Amino acid sequence: MHPRRALLYMPGDDRHKIEKALALNVDCICMDMEDGVAFNRKAEARRGIALALGELAFGRSEKLARLNAPGSGLEAQDIEAVLPCHPDGIVLPKVESLEQLQWASGLIEAAELERGWPLHSIRMLAGVETARAILNLKEIASHPRLDGLIFGGEDYAANVGARRSPEATELLYARSAVVTACAAFGLQAIDMVSIDFRDLDMVRRQAAFGAQLGYSGKQVIHPAQVAPVQEAFTPDDDSIEKARRLVQAFETHQQEGRGAFALDGKMIDLPLVKAAQNILERAQAAGKGEG
Ligand code: COA
Ligand code: MG
Repeated sequence: MHPRRALLYMPGDDRHKIEKALALNVDCICMDMEDGVAFNRKAEARRGIALALGELAFGRSEKLARLNAPGSGLEAQDIEAVLPCHPDGIVLPKVESLEQLQWASGLIEAAELERGWPLHSIRMLAGVETARAILNLKEIASHPRLDGLIFGGEDYAANVGARRSPEATELLYARSAVVTACAAFGLQAIDMVSIDFRDLDMVRRQAAFGAQLGYSGKQVIHPAQVAPVQEAFTPDDDSIEKARRLVQAFETHQQEGRGAFALDGKMIDLPLVKAAQNILERAQAAGKGEG
């Protein structure tokens, strides 16, 4: 799976920001037709994204297009405008049911067949950002074309009537539920936006907390957020080294017929080995070490 430590949005009708994103070495560039675009600029956003997909070289950055929400009345025209240009993936926001993903996936598959593109070469990411989405996570997360779920913190807060705080304790239940569903279905979990984009210490802290919860990446809205967020979701050298030692020690002890053992004064058994393997996998996905 493509690493998605930082997923940068910009309005699809803003060519300058799309071009700006190409030089940021960001994992994902998500050109938006939804909430980042004014109601009277939706057509420009569709056209802008189609042109950008056809004309620009995105390098290692994944090219994503975010549709308007299912049921908005805009989503069908959105997906029709961008599919012929083969984006790497479609982001479907405010998903609440499996049927909505089946609708998008059906159109994607038809385009893949019609144009002779490999089946499932266009991936799908679903925004879960309402109370209904959290209740239906199990069915939503089961769709085979999905690579990940994206937690929309501000939309969720507005939907349930939560009062926002910098610590986001009011979102903890939903934020953790999304990580749990992702782990259960082998999906990437992409955390909420930090909207205070001038405060880089804040984005660093909030990204670290997302990583602590189990998220593999985070949505970002400004170039300055890209590097700190990608760093927060890349295991540091120290944890990689520790994880390697732990896995090695585990293998040695297994051969000697011992399950649990002590390392640096701590009890080590299978769950800790799995956590260490997880760190090595994430390091490898981020292009760090042989894993
Ligand atoms: N992607 C690419 N480039 C961006 C960018 C983004 N998301 N946000 C800002 N930039 C560019 C600006 O165009 C500017 O470029 P320049 O120096 O060549 O003129 C530079 O980065 C610095 O921007 P800055 O002046 O600090 O911010 P701003 O006031 O222009 O924009 C926002 C602030 C919030 C409006 C802008 O960051 C933005 O549009 N973010 C994305 C919003 C969005 O898509 N929301 C929906 C998803 S949640
Ligand atoms: Mg949203």
